[in-house]
Formats: sequence, C-alpha cells, structure tokens
Amino acid sequence: MYIAQITDLHISDQSNERVQLVDCTARLARVVEVLESLIPRPDVVLLTGDLTDEGTADQYLLLQGLLAPLTIPVLPIPGNHDLHDAFVESFAEVLPPDLADGHCSYVIEPRAAAQPRLIGFDTSHPERIDGVAPQDRLLWLDQQLSAAPEVPTLIFMHHPPIDSTIWWMDIVGLSPGDAVELRAVIARHDQIRLVVAGHIHRPIHSMIGSARVSICPSTVHQVGLSVVEEAVPSVSTEPAGFQLHVWTGEEFVTHTERVDDRAERVELDSFRVDVERYRSVRSETGALFKSDLGF
Ligand SMILES: [Fe+2]
Ligand SMILES: [Fe+2]
Repeated sequence: MYIAQITDLHISDQSNERVQLVDCTARLARVVEVLESLIPRPDVVLLTGDLTDEGTADQYLLLQGLLAPLTIPVLPIPGNHDLHDAFVESFAEVLPPDLADGHCSYVIEPRAAAQPRLIGFDTSHPERIDGVAPQDRLLWLDQQLSAAPEVPTLIFMHHPPIDSTIWWMDIVGLSPGDAVELRAVIARHDQIRLVVAGHIHRPIHSMIGSARVSICPSTVHQVGLSVVEEAVPSVSTEPAGFQLHVWTGEEFVTHTERVDDRAERVELDSFRVDVERYRSVRSETGALFKSDLGF
C-alpha cells in the first residue's frame, strides 16, 4: 500500500509576509501534478492539516479547486489554521459519517487483510494555536486502538506528539501535559507502526515506544533548521516537499520527496545493465565482491 502525505498547504487568498514568501497555490498545483504522476499510484493522500491559512469558506473553495485534479482519494485532518465547521463542510464528501463526537477524528478500517489501519487524530482547538489532546480524545483513541490490537496501524495528525527541538515551534506545539498523555497511549499499543504529523514544516523523525514518528515537510515555506535555544526564528523558500509511506506488509518505509523543478533527473540506462549483472552475481554467490565485478 502506498500512502502519500502532504501537509501545511496554507492556502490563502490574502497577502501577508509568511504567505508571500512563496506562492502557495502554484506550489500545491505542482505537488498535485507530481502526486498524479507517481508510479505506482498512491492508494491515498493524507492531508495533515493547516490546509488553509485562515479557515474561511473562500479559502476552502480555493483549496478544493486546487485539489480537483487529484484523482487519488484524500483523507484530511485539521490543523490550527483550519476551522472545524468550515473544514468539515468542505470535506463532507470524503470524511466518514462516523466522526468522533466533538472532534474530527476517525478510523479507516483496512479493505484487505494486508493493509494497515489508518486513524486520523484531531489535535486542533477552535481558539488555540497550540495543539490539544484532551481526556475525551485520548479515551476515544485508546478505545479505537484497543479494538484492533493485532492490526498494524498508522496514526495521522497535525501537531506532532513529540518536541521538534526547534524551540519556537515547540512553543506552539502540542500542549506539553497533553503530549505526555498522548505518548503514553501510543506507547501502550505496539500495533502502531507509524505516527505521521505536520505543523513543523520540516522533515523530522523520532520514536515513541516501538512506533516511528515522522513529520512531513510543507508544500509552502519550510522552517529553518536551528536547534539552538532562543535562536532567531526563520523560514525558508526551499522547495515544497511531501512524503510517501510505503507499507511493505511488515513495515512502513518513508520517502521524503522535494518538488524542485530546478533539479535535473537523469535516467541511468547503462547502469541498469550493470545492476542486472550485480543481481545475478549476488543471487549466485550471496555477495558482491569488487573483484567479481571488475572494480
Ligand atoms: Fe503550518
Ligand atoms: Fe500548524
């Protein structure tokens, strides 16, 4: 199963310093083109929040227009820049009818035995920038996980359940007390193989118990790398990115792709012939010795 993830699209019809840094609509349009051209075609695209910048009806309309060429099914979860009611209205056709009571969390059960279970976990709060995981949501998550302890599971959410170590982003991260409790829930259920999030606008990896945690780069501006406490906050125009989480049947393998049209991709036809030879040598001998390969 191939699960693509895009995050922090921040689609806006307004001008402000952060949005003007890059063209949010042109970038999303290009990312959609790239997703559509992927072989094999992803089974689903997770949209992990901050899909619009201010959550207005006009911005959701603009967003839906940009997503319209995407023929791959999407599963959205809101971020702190989204507004619950407008978000649910905008995605009414793709969200399951049995959303959790009071929050936009839901479960997508596997359609085949070999597929993982997908759980969207809503960390947004209508009046807050930082994320929340209050008791009722934690109880809901714990119940969902307890219902299928044997099924490999991916959780997708907006605010990561870990600190990023970028101090100024962590101040607007998941509320620290809630994060401790959420990590305890995740650590209790070892069928969770992967937790994916957005919000930080950088690719970052960590662990909670046996679960890998992956944060996806944004389709718009990225956050500058600085893990120095009190460093001046910075954002950058580096290329848009997305992730592809490949479920092998046993594990998730995560690829981070940059959508950079300045980068030249060169196909190595002649090297392919060499690789075919390496494959046959290794299948015969179990190893690739330089002497066998003429190095
Ligand atoms: Fe964001
Ligand atoms: Fe965010």
